Amino acid sequence: MDIDGVRDAYRRYGRRYDLVFGAIFHHGRRTAIGKMDIQPGDHVLEVGVGTGLSLPEYPEGVHVTGIDLSPEMIELAEDRVERLELPNVTLAEMDAADMRFTDNCFDHVVAMYVLSVAPEPERVVDEMRRVCQPNGDLFVVNHFRSANPILRTCEKALSPLSRLVGFRPDFELEEFVERNDLDIRETQSVNLFGYWTLLRASREPRSRLREAA
Ligand SMILES: C[S@@+](CC[C@H](N)C(=O)[O-])C[C@H]1O[C@@H](n2cnc3c(N)ncnc32)[C@H](O)[C@@H]1O
Repeated sequence: MDIDGVRDAYRRYGRRYDLVFGAIFHHGRRTAIGKMDIQPGDHVLEVGVGTGLSLPEYPEGVHVTGIDLSPEMIELAEDRVERLELPNVTLAEMDAADMRFTDNCFDHVVAMYVLSVAPEPERVVDEMRRVCQPNGDLFVVNHFRSANPILRTCEKALSPLSRLVGFRPDFELEEFVERNDLDIRETQSVNLFGYWTLLRASREPRSRLREAA
């Protein structure tokens, strides 16, 4: 999937996005925000914020910046921020693989249901690391390829439709962890049937932490 493919897919969802992916993904959003140990005054970056369904879940007094590749999704998030009067939220159309932020400027960085959508997930993870403060953790919520052979077959069959549905159904967890040299600190199954996974990873690559030990 390329950048235009992502923009096309999420333009097509438009207002239907909340109906399709609102309630079904909400447990994962809430759990991730709860795990972040957010303190008043902290700065959180939410990569691929979409229509901003997670935004009301952040505690008061926290600064949240949400970015997304899709102008239509950002517009819907802006409507939500205005409607719900969320003064501490800033939104911007931006590619998470090439962010316009300085190094180490966020206390917490999270990507919910984004990495199996993003055209270059490794570059997104690199950028999440760069903008996160040195002792911070990265949080990811995603569907990864199922261990169940029947579900795996269905996911594989769906993968040619990635561009249409707007995500890759056969995104492999082990490969993702290896490729990004992630030091996984915690995993938790979330949402319906635990079919999605919340990952908490150190900002630092695993190989660097091993060298330093
Ligand atoms: C499945 S939606 C998830 C939206 C939201 N996080 C949620 O919980 O509903 C994936 C979002 O990631 C965005 N996205 C994909 N690749 C991106 C990138 N490289 N940079 C920024 N946003 C991206 C898409 O435009 C879309 O809004």
